Amino acid sequence: MTDTQMTLQDTQFDDALALTLYVVQQQTGYPLDQLEADAEFETDLGIDSIVQLEITADLLARCGLPSDSGKLSGAASIDEMARKLARAFDGRPVAAPPAAKGQGKTAGDGELLDMLLKTPHKAPKETPTFPAPTTETRTMRDFADMPHRDLFHKVEAFDAFYKTQRDAGFYWYGMPLESPCQNRAVIHDEVSGQRTEFLMFASNNYLGLANDPRVIEAIRDAASRYGATNTGCRLIGGSNVLHKELERKLADLKGTEDSIVFPSGYSANVGTISALMGSRDIVFTDALNHMSIQDGCKLSGASRRIYQHTTGALERALERSADADGGRLIVTDGVFSMHGDIVDLPRVVELARKYDAKVLVDDAHSTGVLGKTGSGTSEHFGMKGQIDLELGTFSKTLAGVGGFVAARADVVEYLRFYANSYVFAATIPAHVAAGLIASIDIMKSEPQRIETLWRNIDHLKSELLKAGFDLGETQSAILPIVIGDDRKTLEMGRAVRARGMFCQTVVFPGVAVGDARLRISVTSEHTLEDLDLAAQIVIDSAEEVGVQTHV
Ligand SMILES: Cc1ncc(COP(=O)(O)O)c(C=O)c1O
Repeated sequence: MTDTQMTLQDTQFDDALALTLYVVQQQTGYPLDQLEADAEFETDLGIDSIVQLEITADLLARCGLPSDSGKLSGAASIDEMARKLARAFDGRPVAAPPAAKGQGKTAGDGELLDMLLKTPHKAPKETPTFPAPTTETRTMRDFADMPHRDLFHKVEAFDAFYKTQRDAGFYWYGMPLESPCQNRAVIHDEVSGQRTEFLMFASNNYLGLANDPRVIEAIRDAASRYGATNTGCRLIGGSNVLHKELERKLADLKGTEDSIVFPSGYSANVGTISALMGSRDIVFTDALNHMSIQDGCKLSGASRRIYQHTTGALERALERSADADGGRLIVTDGVFSMHGDIVDLPRVVELARKYDAKVLVDDAHSTGVLGKTGSGTSEHFGMKGQIDLELGTFSKTLAGVGGFVAARADVVEYLRFYANSYVFAATIPAHVAAGLIASIDIMKSEPQRIETLWRNIDHLKSELLKAGFDLGETQSAILPIVIGDDRKTLEMGRAVRARGMFCQTVVFPGVAVGDARLRISVTSEHTLEDLDLAAQIVIDSAEEVGVQTHV
């Protein structure tokens, strides 16, 4: 490399960096003065992989580079991306836009960036190619962001991809049940037209309450008493005495002063985080948290710090922001929904106290599973009533639909007026609340359900471990069979179904690309025979498709 080239490269880097900073600011809303050149996308800025893709696509489009060139992929920080961008031009001026062509403009002459910033973002028109299923290497992530003038370009590309995957038997998402969802369920395969009774290992009905006659009777009774639905949101005519009773029961279950019911667990996360956090605040969120948490963090407008799933990473993120103004919230799943491990809550709370942060724990997969009475993560650690915000969903153990947050009375009151998903949305109907009240009562009066659940978890887990499967760090009713590769996981899911067992096949966006897995959910309704059969099916399927085990 000559000296002239060297200089050119240096100035190119400066321009590329300025452009990258600008695009990051445009795509994330971060003020420029908060963007350091060496900031890492995920750990320092909390910019997730989807937004990183958007930044990459925007930069490539602005620079007239092909969107599938891969030239910017793998950059973990702003300056690394800028370096890759500068390198992509290999001595040429960085992305001279059409207006500059032939006008003798060069990189680093001070005008290039101006020109780039004025260049409208023009996505190239591309013709999609749809490889045959046997050669398919794309994942669902490839369709999350496909810049194109025709907004539906990605829709058409995904439709073709999805149909080949579905017709090959890989994607079985959304196939309808034609029976109650118990330890077995009849599912209608809409592609083949077949109806099959499966061993059901994809349900979150952890304590078998979804079909309990007492729960169903309570629902029937309340529906005939209060009608089909509420006719307004909670603040305006939509509150029923049963909502109030349910909120008291939940507060009692959690050992808090009060609780608030939301239309869903998703909206509980989105509404609560966005109500409490604003642009001056910082939210610390585990990289493996549920999407409803990540979306709540984005919507809140707070600065996000995504930490990589360890309390060490959390502490480093807290330390780096120790001098910042504004409030702090640490949000974590209690049981991580795709991994099954339990958060180290005592350490999280200790760090929260040290750095003046509040804590929100999402107990979607802990309620009815952790703690002697099924209260969740805080009970499991002997910390009941000590967590600032405990959130849960009704769509799993409690056999209904909706979500809730249990907290101090004044915090709950605030949420009733500032959580938009509570204020501006109709809530669960009264008869659903009646079913939930019955479920909580049964869970309390029949603790043997939790004992049976744990007998079942331990049994299946030990069979799968004996067979050499990688179950990650699971400590809950979620048993992941970690495979990694999307394609192999889809083949494994198909092989398992062909043998009469149904469990979740989890690929992006449920987990990161490269971390695909089967996800087996154990319930108290499974018999020991079901569990042994399931273990054998998983073993035989792994052998068929060549999933590696450690024995
Ligand atoms: C950890 C977690 N939080 C929130 C939710 C959303 O709950 P809901 O289905 O009630 O919207 C889920 C559901 O899968 C979840 O797993």
